Amino acid sequence: MFDSVLRDWEGESLVIHRDVPSGAWILIAIHSTRLGPAAGGTRMKQYPAVEDALCDALRLSKGMTLKFAAPGLPYGGAKAVIMLPDGFEPGGRRELLRRYGEHVKALRGVFYTGPDFGTTPNDMDVIAETGSPYIFCRTPEAGGAGDPGPYTAFGVLTGMRAVCEHLHGDASLASRRVLVQGAGDVGGALIPLLVAEGAQVVFSEVDDRLIRYFRDEVGVEFVPAEDALGDECDILAPCALGGVLDETTIPRLRCAAVAGSANNQLGSREDAERLRARGILYAPDYIVNAGGAMAITSLEMRGGTPEGARDEIATYVRRALLRMFEVADREGITPDGAALRMAEEHLAGAVAA
Ligand code: PHE
Repeated sequence: MFDSVLRDWEGESLVIHRDVPSGAWILIAIHSTRLGPAAGGTRMKQYPAVEDALCDALRLSKGMTLKFAAPGLPYGGAKAVIMLPDGFEPGGRRELLRRYGEHVKALRGVFYTGPDFGTTPNDMDVIAETGSPYIFCRTPEAGGAGDPGPYTAFGVLTGMRAVCEHLHGDASLASRRVLVQGAGDVGGALIPLLVAEGAQVVFSEVDDRLIRYFRDEVGVEFVPAEDALGDECDILAPCALGGVLDETTIPRLRCAAVAGSANNQLGSREDAERLRARGILYAPDYIVNAGGAMAITSLEMRGGTPEGARDEIATYVRRALLRMFEVADREGITPDGAALRMAEEHLAGAVAA
């Protein structure tokens, strides 16, 4: 299994640490440093087995390479996974993150990290205590740019407008039914933006606290998680964990388009073809969800402003998607295939960054 998984990954290096005091596994997958230091979030959660954590890290790291390469940004791709052991005591979190920070530091800037599923800007502050200066998204109090979620959400909104522009010749989301699957860091920031655009928003979520907040306090229509994928809507926005689009789920979809923030939405590349065969427009995940990574690298590395970052995201996401949809139509390929080509051209140095 190890042999074929690593071969398919095509990445540069994989660092595996066993965190003895906690029993956690720390996996740092550095997929590519071709365009610059490899950047990617740190995901912290439990997995059924180490193989699952490993596959997650490997696939996510490749997604980060594509996310930075497609807009021509000078970063490579990586991802770290901290696989928590059963019965992990929350009291041990701080020390675990500090030890993790030492590992990040030891990589001497080959790897830069930020938050991902299961980690927050507060965690980045802790990691930075030992891993600084390679840590993005520390809290503003600690001198960082904070949570990237709102920027990612803004990029997803732009992506949905581009989807409507392509499908209907009009970018407005007014009255379009949009299903947001997952109301966490990005989905939760996306919902109010959609409401403000006049969209008919529905959401699914598994966390009771978030369900109560968005359904009862914000007044958004709730759909149970098991009905989310089959909902009849204009746009399905996967904003939770990846792998939601595969041979078993795609036949059930009743949406016109998919555009969301989750990384690795496709179970495999063939699933892009399955979506096309069903006439569902797929906005490639690493294009639609690039807003956070674009904004944070601009704010923290290039002295950018929040307004400037938003302008960059809006211009990039719209242009890239419209171009991919057009190329896909013209050449009879999938938007995912068109996106891959764009990222690979930058990786091959065929297009000046
Ligand atoms: N989770 C973020 C992403 O997938 C990781 C990240 C945030 C990387 C900010 C760089 C900067 O894009």
